[in-house]
Amino acid sequence: MAEVTLDLRGTPKAAAYVQLKQHVEAVLEGIDDEITAMSTMSCLLHHGFGHLWTGFYRVVQPGKLLRVGPYQGTLGCLEITFGKGVCGVSAATRETVVVPDVHAFPGHITCDGRSQSEIVVPVFGKNRELIAVLDIDSEHKATFDAVDQQALEELMTWFSRPRA
Ligand code: SME
Repeated sequence: MAEVTLDLRGTPKAAAYVQLKQHVEAVLEGIDDEITAMSTMSCLLHHGFGHLWTGFYRVVQPGKLLRVGPYQGTLGCLEITFGKGVCGVSAATRETVVVPDVHAFPGHITCDGRSQSEIVVPVFGKNRELIAVLDIDSEHKATFDAVDQQALEELMTWFSRPRA
């Protein structure tokens, strides 16, 4: 098992995600536990890229309510209703939402005033049911783009893949 948390901050983004994914897959080898996977991904993404907040909101009432799960960062709000904030919009639409400027997103939920931009990626289980969303916040504007979207959506396929 890889033992260290990689620091990917000087590495070009696409290459950084390749390393990140290899690391996640190696650490989770042989593990079939969603909470362990969420914890590991939060840790490696957060420290690898130096984000402000990185973690998961889990679906606890399908179509209605998200509740915070494994994360890294300052205190996150505990529950988010489907349709509210960036996380709730992603959950309701089952689509990734990239927000270059959180202040321009109607209904954005502020958990940490330092947040400037955000990406939220839906997480599907083995039957295409929505099980969570991955939420990443940055202290800088326009941190996330199509490269992040593609790589994070690919990383989230861990949860829908058949596992040993
Ligand atoms: N900004 C998110 C809420 C969660 S936190 O930032 C940790 C949103 O608008 O959904």
